[in-house]
Amino acid sequence: MARKPKFQKPAGMHDILPGEQKYFQKIYNVCENISNFYGFKRIDTPILEETELFSKGTGLTTDIVQKQMYNLKTKGGDYLTLRPEFTPGVIRAYIEHGMKNLSQPVKLYSMGPVFRYEKAQAGRYRQFHQFNLEVIGEGSPMIDTQIIQIFYNILTELKLKNPIIEINSIGDSQCRPYYKKLLVNYFKSRESALCVDCRRRLRENPLRILDCKEEKCQRIISQAPQIIDHLCEECHHHFKSVLEFLDEIELPYHLNPYLVRGLDYYTKTAFEIFSELPQKTEEKEFLAKNALVGGGRYDNLVKLLGGDDIKAAGAAMGVERVIEAIKIKGIKFPKSPNPSVFLAQLGNLAKRKTLKLLDEFRKAKIQVAESFGKDSLKAQLKLADKIGARYTLILGQKEALEGTIIIRDMKFGKQDTLKLEKAVKEVKKRLKK
Ligand code: HAM
Repeated sequence: MARKPKFQKPAGMHDILPGEQKYFQKIYNVCENISNFYGFKRIDTPILEETELFSKGTGLTTDIVQKQMYNLKTKGGDYLTLRPEFTPGVIRAYIEHGMKNLSQPVKLYSMGPVFRYEKAQAGRYRQFHQFNLEVIGEGSPMIDTQIIQIFYNILTELKLKNPIIEINSIGDSQCRPYYKKLLVNYFKSRESALCVDCRRRLRENPLRILDCKEEKCQRIISQAPQIIDHLCEECHHHFKSVLEFLDEIELPYHLNPYLVRGLDYYTKTAFEIFSELPQKTEEKEFLAKNALVGGGRYDNLVKLLGGDDIKAAGAAMGVERVIEAIKIKGIKFPKSPNPSVFLAQLGNLAKRKTLKLLDEFRKAKIQVAESFGKDSLKAQLKLADKIGARYTLILGQKEALEGTIIIRDMKFGKQDTLKLEKAVKEVKKRLKK
């Protein structure tokens, strides 16, 4: 058995090897194109933020803040945290840079790594990547629907057909306190039958019990009062409008009264998007358990973080989970074409000249492959064949001395010698044919 290397990646974190990069590139490309179309602008915030930004923003009662943050103390004594999500950082930037003075709403997108100290398992990583959207400064339900529509479009553009939208309203400070009381009363009378986590949630954040996946809790949850029946008029109206807009654009959705989301800041709309489920049970379970997108409205967060009373909504997509869904479904993206030119060299003088020649091809925007490590012509021609190069340029000792180069047509096996300085022009001409 091969010996384990001395150093390995940290648990729950991954190297994105060259072979995987095409997925990230494709996904980010699709996300950026669609977001640009809808008027979003990119924002990059630091990967580290003050710890308090998350404990306040993401919320003290969340699993993220209680168990999952990577915290550190700097040499200067500052408490910083690796971002476990984008939203608090983006809102901090909105406030800090006075973006309320820009024309509202401000639509921002971000992408990159986020960090959560989770129990590492399939679909759940400690470093993963999100594509995140925020619309700040607008309370209209149309925005909630539009955010869902954008992520739906992103997924379908990535060939993940028929995504499943789950949606709920979790009310606001008008109606939620009363509903919470109802829930607490209901669960208190059944407390002994709840799991340990839910008993803790009962004191800290009873709404989160609705989200519990434990079988014994599920039975109790299924009889619990539902928030939908207890929304105040404004929340009710808002939710109804979001659903009507979804109907209007013909996006199918499932009402899920148990969807509460694991973050404290949501008000009114909460939603998640899942991949269409395949037949195979193992894969089905994975896709049913792991949302691809999660988001909703959060009308109090800007104020909570020290800004004005400004409404907002947003969502984020987990890039690794989307890649897993793409692989499960066997979706293939067209490979980027291999270079059509291979540059072979023999001997030291030729090697020196090829460096310059390669740079001329770069300037002419012609992709050229080479293998400076290989010295035998046979090996180099074999490689040129393998990548499917249309032409191989051969620069031997003799050619290097004479200032010429051989151009070999790989399809017909025919070759000509030409002046070295004409090489780029000639290849360009032949490739155009
Ligand atoms: P979230 O639901 O915590 O929401 O994360 C969004 C997405 O990130 C999830 O649907 C999932 O695809 C992915 N994700 C979450 N945790 C993991 C993990 N451990 N491993 C792999 N993927 C994961 C947020 O982060 C909110 N900030 C979204 C938002 C933006 N709400 C309003 N604006």
